[in-house]
Amino acid sequence: MSTIFSGIQPSGSPTLGNYLGAFKHFTELQDDYDCYFCIVDQHAITVPQDRLKLRENIKSLAALYLACGIDPEKATLFIQSEVSAHAKMAWILQCVSYVGELERMTQYKDKSQKQGDGVSAGLLTYPPLMAADILLYQTDIVPVGDDQKQHIELTRNLAERFNQQHNDIFTIPEARIPKVGARIMSLTEPTKKMSKSDDNQKSFILMLDDERQIMKKIKSATTDSDMTVRFDKVNKPGVSNLMAIYSLCSGKTLEEIEAAYAGKGYGDFKTDVAEAVVDTLKPIQEKYYELMASEQLDEILDHGAEKAAHVANKMVTKAERAMGLGRKKR
Ligand code: AMP
Ligand code: TRP
Repeated sequence: MSTIFSGIQPSGSPTLGNYLGAFKHFTELQDDYDCYFCIVDQHAITVPQDRLKLRENIKSLAALYLACGIDPEKATLFIQSEVSAHAKMAWILQCVSYVGELERMTQYKDKSQKQGDGVSAGLLTYPPLMAADILLYQTDIVPVGDDQKQHIELTRNLAERFNQQHNDIFTIPEARIPKVGARIMSLTEPTKKMSKSDDNQKSFILMLDDERQIMKKIKSATTDSDMTVRFDKVNKPGVSNLMAIYSLCSGKTLEEIEAAYAGKGYGDFKTDVAEAVVDTLKPIQEKYYELMASEQLDEILDHGAEKAAHVANKMVTKAERAMGLGRKKR
């Protein structure tokens, strides 16, 4: 069985973009693959975090994974910092990385610019940590949104370099990026990615937003003056983004949506998009609140960390041996 690994950072509350670009696909994969889903809290501290908020976000993210349909009997759900192999392997891979290639990462350039003076070294060495996450489990496929493509490419380069320079131990992973929904755009500036760290609250829908908030945000989403519901990312980015959201939430094709609103303007269209989003998120929210109030979550995460550590520790030992670290074990 092929192996899948993916991670989400517990930094803020996940958005509809996270759901359509990531969570939704995870649940579809767990029957056919050996899946590892990770709450990457060590990635989150590459930028400053409030201690209590971070802890709350970790728990909340775990509950959201499960509420979306991740079945702990099938997939391994765990917290990155609870499996020490990740930090160990990250160090090894940092020593295989070149500063130049890390400085070329788009996400590093963006985030370090936003950060101003206090850019942590961790922000630069974040990709080798992500590579460690992936390579520890002999991962074949990494389902992610479009924005992570470059990091996966680097992971492949690091794995190949290590295999060549030391010993051929790592599986070379591949990114799997969804065709529609790989990049859900901001509702207010549809040429930018929808992001939970956006200053404008109206630009994103959170997975935990209620019906009223969702309706309001979609009603005020930026469109254009052309008044036809037609998919055209270049000339009609706002409408195309709403169509992609609608299609993913309702199962209707883009053609069906275009046909249904021919000659009707944007009013009804927006209402229907909002309703489809509400119908998609409501059952997830109900399950989420149930899980947050139960004791189940801790048990699942303990078990997940144990299972992950068992696999990951073996891989660290292999990598350490290949590099000559420590004493040769008898
Ligand atoms: P992050 O919230 O940055 O940790 O991202 C978690 C996952 O959600 C990654 O696989 C991202 O590629 C995906 N993702 C984040 N934002 C979006 C978006 N606007 N559209 C589609 N996928 C997204
Ligand atoms: N860097 C990813 C993001 O910001 C999160 C992540 C960390 C990840 N480790 C990973 C995704 C391993 C896939 C596989 O979205």
